[in-house]
Amino acid sequence: MVKMPPKRGQVVILKQLRSMKKRKLGNTGFKISEIAFGGVGIGMPYAGQKMPEELDSIHLLEKALDGGINFYDTARMYGRSEEMLGKAFKDKREKVVINTKCVHFLDQDGKIPAKRELVKIIHKSLENSLKALQTDYIDVYMLHQSSLDILKNEDIIDIFSHLKNKGTIRAIGASTYLPEETDYCINSGVWDVVQVPFNLMDQRQQVLFKAAVDNGVGLIVRSVLFRGMLTGRSLNYHKELEKVKEHIQRFNSLIGQDIPDMITLATKFVLSYPPVSSVLIGMDQMKHLDKALQIADGKYYPQTLLGILEGMAFPEPEFLNLPQWDRKGWLKN
Ligand SMILES: NC(=O)c1ccc[n+]([C@@H]2O[C@H](COP(=O)([O-])OP(=O)(O)OC[C@H]3O[C@@H](n4cnc5c(N)ncnc54)[C@H](OP(=O)(O)O)[C@@H]3O)[C@@H](O)[C@H]2O)c1
Repeated sequence: MVKMPPKRGQVVILKQLRSMKKRKLGNTGFKISEIAFGGVGIGMPYAGQKMPEELDSIHLLEKALDGGINFYDTARMYGRSEEMLGKAFKDKREKVVINTKCVHFLDQDGKIPAKRELVKIIHKSLENSLKALQTDYIDVYMLHQSSLDILKNEDIIDIFSHLKNKGTIRAIGASTYLPEETDYCINSGVWDVVQVPFNLMDQRQQVLFKAAVDNGVGLIVRSVLFRGMLTGRSLNYHKELEKVKEHIQRFNSLIGQDIPDMITLATKFVLSYPPVSSVLIGMDQMKHLDKALQIADGKYYPQTLLGILEGMAFPEPEFLNLPQWDRKGWLKN
């Protein structure tokens, strides 16, 4: 029988199995791939994209695991995302580290409910996550919606800590937006993991990286591609975002032989900080996975280049508020 040569994609995957680096997730005991699978896009339409078919999502998840990605980010509020993870990994549960997040629980007036109601909401949300994920434990369970009031709330801390002591949850964490929320989380002695936005444009959270390491808190970074704006493709910007568009174009001057494209620049920039445990890349197409595997080659940017990039951050980071842009209808793509 004639032995067929491996197809191109197969070679890439085999190489990556050897080279995808794992990093410590704070003091949780987990060693996770430095690139994480961002799971919103396989559960619901996200950032202007249609959701892939179920079989394509499952195939993508399997290929990601083959490629060395063992850390998966999802949430109860990501549509069918947890269900896709459950279908792909039910027989390989111990090979993956799953990070999921509780539903939002503020009441209609924006207030935190009383403890009895909170227990009901959080327990129900967790139960639904376990069912969708086809598992009996969650590796990292997060607050999806954080504010200083939520992070400091003794009832919430109590409920999360109790579930951790029971073993249903292995580690607890919070997804934050503002540096003061991250700062509180890192220094609280309660939360094991924090998920923060950090990218070439908005570098505010960097001052907190050392404290995360010193306190043994795992640091996950999202928004690395700034919702597609740091990918080099031409986008249809709202007129209020003209200064953002102009600023992003400055990074083009760095693209050349050593930095092949904007996606590589944006992702490697974040990967080059050792305190970062893992970088979330949203994946809903095979090309996203292939690119992520190509970028994670174990080589990082030198301090000189990081210094230049730190000097190129957007000067008004408070303006870079994606949830607010969404509400104002400024994110068209
Ligand atoms: N905790 C939270 O509140 C929160 C909020 C948002 C996201 N997240 C997590 O973070 C993950 C990433 O989301 P993000 O908002 O941070 O997205 P992002 O990585 O900043 O940007 C994703 C955008 O980049 C585009 N893109 C182009 N080339 C790409 C490539 N090679 N790989 C990936 N994306 C590419 C995608 O568009 P195309 O699809 O058109 O290529 C999409 O529009 C999500 O999946 C989710 O797990 C968490």
